[in-house]
Amino acid sequence: MQRVYITAVLLVSCAAAGDLLRGVEVPQYAFAGGEAKLGCSYDLRATRLYSLKWYHNGTEFYRYVPTERVTPINIKPSHKFLVTEVSRDERRVEVSLTRLQVSASGQYRCEVIAEHPSFRTEVASANMTVLREPLAPPLLLGAREIYEPSELIKIGCQPRRPLLHEHRPTLQWFLEGTKVGPQWVTPYGTTLRYGPYGLSLHVPGQQVASAGGSVKAECRLSMGSHHYSSYKTLRVRMRMISYVDNYHSTGSRDNSRNLILVTVTAGVTLFFIM
Ligand SMILES: *[C@@H]1O[C@H](CO)[C@@H](O)[C@H](O)[C@H]1NC(C)=O
Ligand SMILES: *[C@@H]1O[C@H](CO)[C@@H](O)[C@H](O)[C@H]1NC(C)=O
Repeated sequence: MQRVYITAVLLVSCAAAGDLLRGVEVPQYAFAGGEAKLGCSYDLRATRLYSLKWYHNGTEFYRYVPTERVTPINIKPSHKFLVTEVSRDERRVEVSLTRLQVSASGQYRCEVIAEHPSFRTEVASANMTVLREPLAPPLLLGAREIYEPSELIKIGCQPRRPLLHEHRPTLQWFLEGTKVGPQWVTPYGTTLRYGPYGLSLHVPGQQVASAGGSVKAECRLSMGSHHYSSYKTLRVRMRMISYVDNYHSTGSRDNSRNLILVTVTAGVTLFFIM
């Protein structure tokens, strides 16, 4: 279960093909009403380009034929998106799809055909899912303004809305920009079909005290190459005591906060590295 949260998401699908077509770049996720940029890279060292075409679910929507003097670029209107060419050079064509509809989900295929005499054809494709709902920064739950060094700081992080489909965002916690190791996070809120939907952070207050009393925590929600973060500064009550009160020293550690001889060590973030 935990794996779901720590596995890096493949941001871009690259399908390497032959020596003419180098591959496509298609985002794994996009959002209704939004934009997606598609790249198709080719290598014309061995031959010349006769045509380059983009297809969605088998329907052509973009065609570049360099030998066509009048209309080398041909874009077919579609109700699924608006197509514009972003750039085109000797190695790559990039198109932008805007006003994406949910029906723009599916397979994007780039087809490259070499010039006469070979007319060799190469294709590469990748899938994109257009989600109906936009994403938002995750919700942080249960955070307080200040903690005691003896406490275990616990903060939940989850999407603002339950996502009731198989496309789940990943959640990750960072402390001072460093990804938190699996020993300090726990998935929670298991749903029957799609697994846990939240990820809580557990940091001993003492670690924050050792790092100087405050540490910036970030929970990052990611979906493909889309990232949204929420932040919280974890603060631990620091007591500058110049002596140790031996009077209480036999007591349990939990109520011994007055006994803690605070040593402020600047920048100790090593604690949080996995
Ligand atoms: C294209 O295929 C995908 C996946 O099979 C589907 O979700 C989508 O609705 C299709 N779109 C069109 C316009 O055919
Ligand atoms: C794209 O989706 C189709 C069906 O939805 C699947 O058969 C195919 O393997 C997928 N292609 C890639 C590159 O993931």
